[in-house]
Parts: sequence; C-alpha cells; structure tokens
Amino acid sequence: MAKAKTIYYCQNCGTQSATWVGKCRNCGQWNTYVEEVIQSTSNGNKPLSAVQSQPVRINEIDSSRSQHRINAGIEEINRVLGGGIVPGSIILLGGEPGIGKSTLLLQLALSLKSSMSVLYVSGEESDIQLKMRADRLQQTNENCYIVNETNTQNIFQHIETLHPQLIIIDSIQTLQTNVIESSAGSISQIRETTSELQRFAKLSSTPIFLIGHITKDGSLAGPKVLEHIVDVVLQFEGDRNYGHRLVRAVKNRFGSVSELGIFEMRQEGLREINNPSEILISQHAEDVNGIAIAVTIEGLRPFFIETQSLVSPSVYGNPQRSSTGFDLRRLNMLLAVLEKKCGLKLNAKDVFLNITGGIHVDDPAADLAVVISILSSLFDVSVDPKSCFAGEIGLSGEIRPVSRIEQRILEAKKLGFKRIYISSFNPNNVNVNGIEIIKIAKIEKILTSLFPE
Ligand code: TYD
Ligand code: MG
Repeated sequence: MAKAKTIYYCQNCGTQSATWVGKCRNCGQWNTYVEEVIQSTSNGNKPLSAVQSQPVRINEIDSSRSQHRINAGIEEINRVLGGGIVPGSIILLGGEPGIGKSTLLLQLALSLKSSMSVLYVSGEESDIQLKMRADRLQQTNENCYIVNETNTQNIFQHIETLHPQLIIIDSIQTLQTNVIESSAGSISQIRETTSELQRFAKLSSTPIFLIGHITKDGSLAGPKVLEHIVDVVLQFEGDRNYGHRLVRAVKNRFGSVSELGIFEMRQEGLREINNPSEILISQHAEDVNGIAIAVTIEGLRPFFIETQSLVSPSVYGNPQRSSTGFDLRRLNMLLAVLEKKCGLKLNAKDVFLNITGGIHVDDPAADLAVVISILSSLFDVSVDPKSCFAGEIGLSGEIRPVSRIEQRILEAKKLGFKRIYISSFNPNNVNVNGIEIIKIAKIEKILTSLFPE
C-alpha cells in the first residue's frame, strides 16, 4: 500500500500548503484551506508518461499533418472557437447552474455530422433524463453514446472500446480518479482528472468538452487550476429573466477571445441568433425619452444595443447612480464630463442607466449613446429612433474615433437607420451612400444640435 500524504489546498486559488492556514497568502481569502489526502501510488502517470518523445526542428514538422477543424454543427460555437473544434483540444464550458450548459453540449453532440461518434459522460443526470432532453431537442445522432460514470479509469475503458471522435464530460466537478483519495470536486481531484483527460486528448487528437460549474462570485469552481490546463475556456452567461444566452471565449489558444455566440433558450432547446440586433433593440412608440441606440462591436460582429436612461431630481442629498450592463465608474466619468463641459447640474439628479437585453457592454463606442440617452431623459426630448451613435468620449469632452467605423456604418445602413453620429476624427475615407453620416468633435456640439433649447 502506497503512503498517503496530506496536503492543504486553497479551494479558491489552488495554492497548497503543508499545514492549515487561515488566510491564503496567495489570494488573500479566509478559511479556504481544505485537507486533501493524496495517494502517491507508484504507477500514477506511468502508462502515458512512458511514451518516447523526440525533439524535432520546428521547420521539419510536417504542417500538412495538422488536422482540419471539426465543424461543431452549431455556427455560433464554430465562431466562438475561431472556426471549429481543434482536434485534441480541451474546451471548458463554464456557467451558472441551470443556464443551459448540458443542453448546449447535448445539442452539439446531436448536431454533429452523423458519421462522428460522440461519448457523453454524465455524472449528474441519468440516461433517461438525457434521453428526455434529446427528445425535446428533436435532433438525433445515431452515434451519440451516453454513459453514467464518474470514475476516470472506467471512462477511459469505455473510450477504448468505443473510440469516440468527441467526448463530452458533464461535469468535471463530478469526476474522480483512483490516484487521489479526496472527494470529487476538490481541487486536487479536478486537477488530476483534467490532466488525465488532457494527456489523453493530446495523444489521441480527440477533442474533449468539459462542463464546469461556477461559484457564487462568478468564477469557475476549482478555477485557476483548470483554466491553465485547458486550451479554451468558454463562459456561458445570460440573464435568467431573458431568454437569450451568450457564449464568450475567455481564453482561446486557437483563436480570438473577442467573439460572442448568441442563443435563445426555447422550449425545444437553444436557437442560434444570427442577427443579434433583432433581440437587443426593443420595439416602442416613437417618442420615448431617454433611449439611444449604440453601434458596438463584439468580436467581429457589429451589435446594436439600446441604452436607456432615467434622470430624475434627487430626493436625498446624495444623488444615486445606478447602472445595469455598463461600467458604473465609466458612467460617473461621463456624468462628470457632462457637468464640466456642458454646464449641466447633474449633481442634484439621480441617474439610472440600463442596457436592454441583459447584455454587458465593454466597447467604448457605447459612450456616445449613453450620454445621448442621459441628455434625452434630462431634457425630456426624444431621439429619432432612426439615429444611432458610435463614439468614445474623452475626459475633455471630445468624441474620439472608434475602430472599424466603416463596418458599423454599413451595418447601420443595412438595418435601416437613417443617420449615424460618429467622431470627426475618424479618417476621411469613410464613404457610405444611403445613410447620413454626422461627424462631431465635441460633446457640447451634439448637445446644441440634438437638444436645442
Ligand atoms: P441545463 O442544460 O440543465 O442547465 P445546466 O446544465 O447549465 O445546469 O438547462 C436547464 C434549463 O434550460 C432549465 O431551466 C430548462 C431550460 N430548457 C429549456 O427552456 N428548453 C429546453 O429545450 C431545455 C432542454 C431546457
Ligand atoms: Mg447540467
């Protein structure tokens, strides 16, 4: 019998210590250390690490050997992954419970071309439950196998007999390896089972999807450890009150991390949304105050989002500022610029800002629309719904140019907008017919032109 060793792990960041400590010296969290028993068996990683490796010159590596990416059968997933699934990659899909992780990956397993075999390893739901879900999704793949298993050694046996071309693990927190004694979901189990899977993926060129739970504060449970090992980290997010769901790449060794995949959760599973602006711009009567449309870009796609503001006299001495889907500090900065440059008395007003659709915007191009919606609410003057805005606002009130303006203008024209407000500092060669392009240099200018008193 091999000797058992006890190590204390911080469940937040994965730091290890020989003794228990109250406060983690790495991440500063209190009371996160948990004792874990590691069975140091002599045959731990032997079978795989015994493979003979040979250093090769990079120029001598045959690039024709690189396999093509696998079509996931779901366009939004292909895009987020940077053009499909890379063989041998490990893709972690994280998200809150109930957001639809299992649904998404089962849908992926069923929508792959029927010649591709998939092994769906479920540690959370029974085969009957998965079958019921598959029936709801109304898709079939006769080479999709389901197994209820949590022990990695057993899983590898199933893999050996089935030779699946894609593996889905639901979820990594339920897996357990014989090498380690601690309970499933602990840091050392997560690290060890993921490494075992990773070694297998690299050796066999089989892509593996892992489902990971996230903790209350929004980070992946057993987090950093996992993020280092895997190739791609996808975050599945969405507002419970809305039907749509976003898949975002947080880390991607094979593509950009700025892409966003959008779905709508329906009775019969997730539907891809190819034109996101359709769900993000709400329909309303013409003269509603406090609304402006921003032309933002997420990844490669332009996005039209609606910014809504409510500015009202503050009842208490301390004015409230609240923001949903937009950085609150940035909102405060924009309000300060409006006070200083336009002479508006906003310090006696409550300001509420909302980005519709439960979306969070990071693109600074949304600044201009945010400011316009605030002014619209402040003056009780509506903005023409056929106008849209793309501009970043600097500290001195200047409207700064934003990236890929031509793409934004073309998209605005396509969606039937009549006018787009952009920065005067954008290069002059922007030339699109069929839409009025209004260039402005300073925030004071737009105040007088849109809201004449
Ligand atoms: P699920 O995939 O089980 O979430 P996770 O694996 O992330 O915990 O999704 C559960 C939710 O999805 C559940 O609340 C019901 C909803 N849902 C639908 O609305 N339509 C469907 O077709 C399916 C399968 C699920
Ligand atoms: Mg699930």
